[in-house]
Amino acid sequence: MQRAFGTQGFPVPALGLGAGHIGSPALNEAQVGTLLGQALDMGVTLIDTAPSYGLSEERIGRHLAHRRADCILSTKVGYGITGHDDWSYGSVAAGIDAALKRLRTDHLDIVHLHSCPLEILQRGNVIRALHDARTQGKLRVAAYSGENAELQWAIASGQFGGVECSVNLFDQRSLEHVLPQAQARGIGVIAKRPLANSPWRFAGQPIGDYCEEYWLRWQAMGIAAHDMDWPELALRFAAHAPAVSCAIVGTASLEHLQQDKRHVERGPLPPQLFESLRQAFRNHDDNWIGQV
Ligand SMILES: NC(=O)c1ccc[n+]([C@@H]2O[C@H](COP(=O)([O-])OP(=O)(O)OC[C@H]3O[C@@H](n4cnc5c(N)ncnc54)[C@H](OP(=O)(O)O)[C@@H]3O)[C@@H](O)[C@H]2O)c1
Repeated sequence: MQRAFGTQGFPVPALGLGAGHIGSPALNEAQVGTLLGQALDMGVTLIDTAPSYGLSEERIGRHLAHRRADCILSTKVGYGITGHDDWSYGSVAAGIDAALKRLRTDHLDIVHLHSCPLEILQRGNVIRALHDARTQGKLRVAAYSGENAELQWAIASGQFGGVECSVNLFDQRSLEHVLPQAQARGIGVIAKRPLANSPWRFAGQPIGDYCEEYWLRWQAMGIAAHDMDWPELALRFAAHAPAVSCAIVGTASLEHLQQDKRHVERGPLPPQLFESLRQAFRNHDDNWIGQV
């Protein structure tokens, strides 16, 4: 199942792989190589990574360089480059070169500024660095990854061909106005955290866990999964939400990825159910801003 990435000139799969988990040193190379290869074989061809995801970028380079033509590589830049201040022109320019090297490729498909604050976006130098790299053929789409006011600004600015933001059962505000605007402008949309980090793993409030906020929203909304399991409900909601080009699920488990693929292929939720989930969010939205 493929879709256009906005009007950026290439298709993306409805389900992509969020490659945060494969950066863990606890996984061995054979496991990661198998997961990445099988992902491409089953059509999960958009791989989203970042320099802050441990070994992720270098492993993708190691295991997928020989299949470069089969995948859409999405990564992020802006920080962590020796000799450059974070969020400077140089940190973005050198960050792109470092990503090209780690990913063992001569071009990246989608490069995001990784959640920089609004003032940095407005200053313009990091955006200029992305555009210069695009002119040099190092990337195809200049993109922004982030939430809320920054996301709105990025979309309205006309400077980006792609955005990445949280879209899930418990993070729906962007679906209201912001993502429809992105769609109208031909901007491709990657939905991150589409399973809301699986809060149903926890019987009680998971204090300090990444998904704690989503767990609280889940309890407050009081929704049911009906005749599906939670991963299916969540993924069909996010991957088929209007304006979403690709939902990236985070896992290092081949079995989970295969299930996720089947879930997305079942198509959109029935319209009434989708609307009831949208309404449950609106009814309980208590400063429920987008979660980075
Ligand atoms: N740009 C940013 O700032 C940013 C921030 C957050 C995330 N991201 C991107 O978005 C990707 C996805 O986000 P995420 O990993 O945070 O959250 P997510 O995809 O919403 O949730 C991941 C969780 O779902 C579980 N899961 C996946 N498939 C499942 C299945 N079929 N059945 C049961 N559980 C399943 C995983 O467990 P297992 O590990 O056991 O499979 C993991 O606990 C990241 O990898 C990253 O690429 C970007």
